[in-house]
Amino acid sequence: MQHPLSLSRPVAIIGSGVMGRGIAMVAAAAGHRVCLYDANGSASAQAVATIQQQWQRQADKGKLSAEEVAQLCARLSRAEQLQQLAEAGLVIEAIVEDLAAKQALFCQLEQIVAADCLLASNTSSLSISAIAAAMAAPQRLVGMHFFNPAPAMRLVEIVHGLATDAALLEQVRATARAWGKETVLVRSSPGFIVNRIARPFYLESLRCLQEGLTDCATLDRLLQHSGGFRMGPFALMDLIGLDVNLAVHRSIWQAMCYDPRYTPLWIQQEMVAAGWLGRKSGRGYYTYPLDQTAEPDSLPVVQPDCSQITFNPAQPVAVVLAQRLQQAGVQLATQHAAADWLFRTGNAHVYLSDGRPAARREQAEQQPCLLLDQAFDFQHVSLLAAQSSPGLSLTERQALEQLLNAAGIRLCHLPDAAGLPLLRTVAMLVNEAAEVLQQGLASAEDIDSAMCLGLNYPQGPLAWGQRLGYGWLAQVLRHLADYHGDGHYRVAGWLQQQAFSSLSFPAEVL
Ligand code: NAI
Repeated sequence: MQHPLSLSRPVAIIGSGVMGRGIAMVAAAAGHRVCLYDANGSASAQAVATIQQQWQRQADKGKLSAEEVAQLCARLSRAEQLQQLAEAGLVIEAIVEDLAAKQALFCQLEQIVAADCLLASNTSSLSISAIAAAMAAPQRLVGMHFFNPAPAMRLVEIVHGLATDAALLEQVRATARAWGKETVLVRSSPGFIVNRIARPFYLESLRCLQEGLTDCATLDRLLQHSGGFRMGPFALMDLIGLDVNLAVHRSIWQAMCYDPRYTPLWIQQEMVAAGWLGRKSGRGYYTYPLDQTAEPDSLPVVQPDCSQITFNPAQPVAVVLAQRLQQAGVQLATQHAAADWLFRTGNAHVYLSDGRPAARREQAEQQPCLLLDQAFDFQHVSLLAAQSSPGLSLTERQALEQLLNAAGIRLCHLPDAAGLPLLRTVAMLVNEAAEVLQQGLASAEDIDSAMCLGLNYPQGPLAWGQRLGYGWLAQVLRHLADYHGDGHYRVAGWLQQQAFSSLSFPAEVL
């Protein structure tokens, strides 16, 4: 177990933009003297002033005492020349995201700092191995990927390049922990953990949009309300900036040798080309300021006619929904069935989507059907996407919809296609996490905690996959691949392996 960097050693931050400023605040709050350097001298002067104002604001809110602010300010300084950083025990680079610029900087730094000084890059997309390749001692470089805003976000990805020294890696990790951060270890690879596994969160909704299934606001609502995600993908892209988000997509896609799993969509390029960059330009997938009045209508209060409807207690989701109905005063007849339907009325069945279009399912079962999307929590979900097969009569559809309404669930009917938005998103998140695990880039524990801490996901993708059944998800992905016919939905080998051990929908799905 390595010790963290001693508090007696100063920390140098190079690049005083949004990330450099945030990291400087973290290191100073931990008790280090911190020196900021920027190629643009007025930027570092401005950064010192901004940081001091932020501390003062925290004092005004009662979060810091006047004495603490004075101590923090006394620890913070700026350098005019790189040579002034010779005393640093740790240098964290947060300059422009450019390989040649970062390589040149670390080559210079090697000549300036002491032999035991830790060297870290905050790069979000460049290879640590590639940056280190230009250094005389490439084993000295480690990635320390903070998230924005650095003082508030708990996660730091500690990234090791091919040459990174293991002891150095552990010392940097111990230091980040001593600064109050949660760390995950990841091998240098495109997007590391968080930026890579998050790709499907955006891509699946973008694909649904491009396939004409529905609009951005509906997709956002579905991912939030059914999926438990804090923000929908379009609102989040608007916040991040569509140009920044597209640049990350492109860099991962290129670094993955144009693997179709990561191909950006033309719609992203069109928006950026138009200058619709999200909140910062006043227009992205939404127009700002947002019109907050467009809330969904309340559920219609209709007592469903359940005389013809039965539920299948062999299906855990059906049991939960039947309990919700019971609480609403609706009793259903039960019919134990080995098949995977949840409810039936006459010949019509309600299933959870398994990635096949409803028309295909109707053809296979020779019965009309209504397919429901996944939910993060079926006990509390209030909105679910649904699709109907062509043979489902209006009367059957209305009866089933009224039933779900009585359980407190609004249905959002989408045109028939392979899979529904949340299922597609979760299946692909799990697939990506499985591939990161299989490639030995990070541990399962680190993958899940990175996605929860870095992006506030309601559950880590591997845990979510286990809940749904890896084998079942592999089958869902095969259905999606079969329908779309491109390599986008290729099933990760690790997931396929799990499929051999279980194909059933596990009981702990709830
Ligand atoms: P920024 O553009 O806000 O700031 C970069 C600063 O570096 C500028 O003040 C610039 O004058 C300075 N700079 C440029 N070249 C320099 C050089 N050769 N020597 C010294 N200073 C130089 O950039 P931001 O957003 O703070 O990003 C910095 C790094 O952090 C990038 O590698 C980025 O990928 C990474 N990152 C950014 C995140 C974000 O949300 N903005 C999140 C995590 C990582």
